[in-house]
Amino acid sequence: MFRFNVIFVCFSLITAVVEMEPGADPWYVAAVYEHRVVLNPEPYVPLSRHAALEHLQRNLDIYEEQAARAAQQGAQILVFPEDGLHGFNFTRTSIVGYLETIPDPQQESWNPCTEPEKHVNTEVLRRLSCMARRHNIYIVANMPDRQPCPLSTDPTSSCPSDGRWQFNTNVVFSSDGLLVARYHKYNLYFERAFDTPPQPEIITFDTPFAGKFGLLICFDILFKEPTVTLLEKGVRQLIYPTAWMNQLPLLDTIQFQRAVSLGANVTLLAANIRSDPLIMTGSGIYTPFSATYHHAQKGDPEEGKLLVARVPVLDPEWSGQRVATEEELKSESISSVVADSGFCHSESCSDASSVPPSFTTFTSSMMYDTSTFVLLNDTRGKVHVCDGTFCCHLQYLKLPQNGSRELYALGAFAGTHLVNGRYALQVCALVRCAGSDQSSCGQIVEEAETKMDFILEGQFETKHVYPSVLASKMVLEDPEHFRKSADGRVTLKHSDMTAGLVTACLYGRMYHLD
Ligand SMILES: *[C@@H]1O[C@H](CO)[C@@H](O)[C@H](O)[C@H]1NC(C)=O
Ligand SMILES: *[C@@H]1O[C@H](CO)[C@@H](O)[C@H](O)[C@H]1NC(C)=O
Ligand SMILES: *[C@@H]1O[C@H](CO)[C@@H](O)[C@H](O)[C@H]1NC(C)=O
Ligand SMILES: *[C@@H]1O[C@H](CO)[C@@H](O)[C@H](O)[C@H]1NC(C)=O
Repeated sequence: MFRFNVIFVCFSLITAVVEMEPGADPWYVAAVYEHRVVLNPEPYVPLSRHAALEHLQRNLDIYEEQAARAAQQGAQILVFPEDGLHGFNFTRTSIVGYLETIPDPQQESWNPCTEPEKHVNTEVLRRLSCMARRHNIYIVANMPDRQPCPLSTDPTSSCPSDGRWQFNTNVVFSSDGLLVARYHKYNLYFERAFDTPPQPEIITFDTPFAGKFGLLICFDILFKEPTVTLLEKGVRQLIYPTAWMNQLPLLDTIQFQRAVSLGANVTLLAANIRSDPLIMTGSGIYTPFSATYHHAQKGDPEEGKLLVARVPVLDPEWSGQRVATEEELKSESISSVVADSGFCHSESCSDASSVPPSFTTFTSSMMYDTSTFVLLNDTRGKVHVCDGTFCCHLQYLKLPQNGSRELYALGAFAGTHLVNGRYALQVCALVRCAGSDQSSCGQIVEEAETKMDFILEGQFETKHVYPSVLASKMVLEDPEHFRKSADGRVTLKHSDMTAGLVTACLYGRMYHLD
C-alpha cells in the first residue's frame, strides 16, 4: 500500500486509449482488474480461519466473474491488485486467519487445483489455481503469506520473535493452474501486518505467449530493488498489483505508471484498488506505444473496472536506452527546436548564445519537498530554474494566447524526499498552480484550460528519468518526443494538447543516493 496523508477529491470515470504506433508482431491480450475490495469492517480484530475464509471468498467470487469476462475477451493474462482479497488495516495478529503458507515454486512444482491435498490450509491458492485452469488464463493475485523462520537469539536475525515471517505476496498461476511464481514485497508502506523479506527477491516467470514477466508490488516501483534490477536483467514486461493513494501533481497512479513505462521503455500491467475513502483508483495496460487506462472521477459509482488490451511482445534483445548522436542532440536542444518551431518570438526568447536572464524564484512545497519555482508570466517565453546545481529549462507557448488566467510555474527539486518514504530525486515539473497565488504552485489541482506547446529539459545526474504529461481531468498524453542523451540531458517536447495542461514532469530517481 502507498498513500500520502492528504485530502483529495476523486473524479468521474475515464477510460481512454492513447495510440502512438501500431504494435509490433507478435502480440498477446492482457487484462487488469481495478477491484473494489469487500472489506472486513473490523480489521483490527483477530478472527478464525473459517471467518477469514468467508470474507476472502466474497472477493474471490468477484475475481471468478472477472476471470470469466477477461477470458471471453481473449485475455491470456489477468492481474488483480494488491490487498484485493483481504483488504487493509490489519495488525500482525489480526491478519493471522488470512495467512496461507505458499510453497516456493522454484523448489517444487505444485498445481493446487489438481493436487489439493498436497498442502493443507491453502483454500485461496486452490481457488485461484482452479480459476486459472477453468478459464485457461494466467492469473496474478496478491495475498498474505506465512513462512516459518528459525527462531534465533542473534539480534541480527530477521526472523520475528513469533517464529514466522508474514509477507505481502504476489502469486502467479499458469493457465493450467500451476503455481509458477511467488514474489514477496520488498518496499513495505506502513504495513504493520507484514515483514520485509531478508533479501530483495527478483522474480520472473515465463509464458508461452509473451516470454518473460517480472513482478513488483505498489511502493516497489519507486526503488532500485526490485524494479531497476529486473530491468537490468533485461525484463521488459512488468506486472504491478498496487493499492496506491493518489497524489498530484507528480504521483497520481496513471501519471506515474505511464511515466515508468515510457521512461524505462517497458510494458507495465498495473491493477489498483478502487476505494473512494482511501483515494485509490487508476489502473492501466501501458506499453512503449500505447496506454489503455482507467481513472475514476468524482461522482462515479464506486465499482470495479476490467481493462483488456492487445499488447505487443517486446523484443527481449533490446537492452537499455538508445543514446542520441551529437547531431540529433544539436537539432533537438531547446534553443534550436524552439527557434525553428516558430513559437518563440525574439522579444521573449533569449538566444542560446546570450547570457540567460535571471528570474525571480520562490520556493513552495510540492509533494512535501521544498522546490524552487519561477512563474510563467507571459504567453510565450523561455525560463529556467535551478535547485542548487540541478537546473531545468522550459520553452513554452500558451494556448489560447490571451484566454486563460491560470497560473503556471516551472519547478525544480533536487534532494531526498523524506515524508512517508525516503528516496532521492531530481525533478523538473511544469505545473498549473492550484490558485492565483504563487504559494499554490506545486499543490493539488486536477483541471486546467490552458494548453501549451513546450519543451522541458533538465540536466540529470541519473539515467533513470520518467516522463509524464497529465492533462485536465486525468487524461494522459504521450509526449510527442522524449529523449535521453548520454551526458544526462533529458528532453520532453510536446504540442497539440487535447486538453489543458495539469503537469508535465521529468521525474529523475537518484537510486544511488538512497
Ligand atoms: C483504514 O485506515 C485508514 C487510514 O489509515 C482509514 O481511513 C480507514 O477508514 C481504515 N479502514 C478501516 C476499514 O478501518
Ligand atoms: C524501445 O524499445 C524498442 C524495442 O522494443 C525499440 O525499438 C525502441 O527504440 C525503444 N525506444 C526507446 C525510446 O529507446
Ligand atoms: C514574473 O512576474 C513577477 C512579478 O511581476 C516577477 O517578479 C518575476 O521575475 C517574473 N518571472 C519571470 C520568469 O519573468
Ligand atoms: C484575445 O483577445 C482579443 C482582443 O482582446 C479578442 O478579440 C480575442 O477573442 C481573444 N482570443 C481568445 C482566444 O480569447
